[in-house]
Amino acid sequence: MKATAKAHTNIALIKYWGKRDDALILPTNSSLSLTLDGFYTTTTVDFQEDLLQDRFILDNQPVEGEAYRRVTEFLDLIRRIAGKENLYADVHSTNDVPTAAGFASSASGFAALAAAGTKAIGLELSDRELSRLTRQGSGSACRSIYGGFAEWEMGNNADGSDSYAVPIAPAEHWDIRVAAVVLSSTMKKVSSRSGMKRTVETSPFYSGWVDTIPNDLLEIKEAIHAKDFEKTGSIAEANCLKMHATTLAADPPFTYWHDTTMRVMQTVQEMRENGIPAYFTIDAGPNVKVLYLPENEENIKKTLRNIPGVSDVILSKSGSGISYL
Ligand code: DP6
Repeated sequence: MKATAKAHTNIALIKYWGKRDDALILPTNSSLSLTLDGFYTTTTVDFQEDLLQDRFILDNQPVEGEAYRRVTEFLDLIRRIAGKENLYADVHSTNDVPTAAGFASSASGFAALAAAGTKAIGLELSDRELSRLTRQGSGSACRSIYGGFAEWEMGNNADGSDSYAVPIAPAEHWDIRVAAVVLSSTMKKVSSRSGMKRTVETSPFYSGWVDTIPNDLLEIKEAIHAKDFEKTGSIAEANCLKMHATTLAADPPFTYWHDTTMRVMQTVQEMRENGIPAYFTIDAGPNVKVLYLPENEENIKKTLRNIPGVSDVILSKSGSGISYL
């Protein structure tokens, strides 16, 4: 009972930031992302009758602790749906997500685990069912089921039955690109999970964040359908700034930004003043992702690489959804 699946990571243009239910991973706002071709996880799940517990090997290293616990708890969900509660698995994953690029490998990781795990145990789920299940591993992962642009509809039900991602436009719709700007310095990280929790619980700006999301989503979807780069980019950039503003007002306050993060943000804004359309977005870490169009690739790469404190710039096209190998 073995299956292998590949999933790409995604970058949120309208961020998921806050949960209304921690256990089921139900968000307080809908979000929208672009799946990226350059960063992915490949996972093989092999359920075997004679195993007494799950095994998880990531990039050829056995994994224990918190990461192992998240994987086995997720496999428990799959076992429960399949009615095979005592069947354990050997899980082998490879991350083709440069760790330094600052992409959460949890998005591609849980999407690949969900796809391979359900297939291996003999379940046949629709994309929607798979997305709903994947959400319970890591919220942002539910959007990685689809290629191109995907929206995670927050839903209203307490059991999470209406909280899953839906496709908005496939990768072929629009050749929009993302440069991952890698910073040379690192700092102790507040995980996205604990960062969003602290913000929901303590930031007086949080309600302002939630209130503005429906309109951001409406407008960005119009812009994506019309392939309006300026509009798409400016909504995404403003949405990112709003998310990060909520953390500054949390108690205790925090920020994911470094000095180099701000230097990159300023450079992107200067590029726009010089007629090169580019927009930034930042997740729960110091690295910056820059949206650009193919005709500006060389210029973007050169300019970003020259910023002091930047160690690498990794370019990606938009990518496809889940595939089985
Ligand atoms: C800032 O999906 O990593 O990247 O659901 O707790 O696993 P959990 O959180 P996670 O959070 C991602 C937050 C974000 C924004 C986004 O991807 O939408």
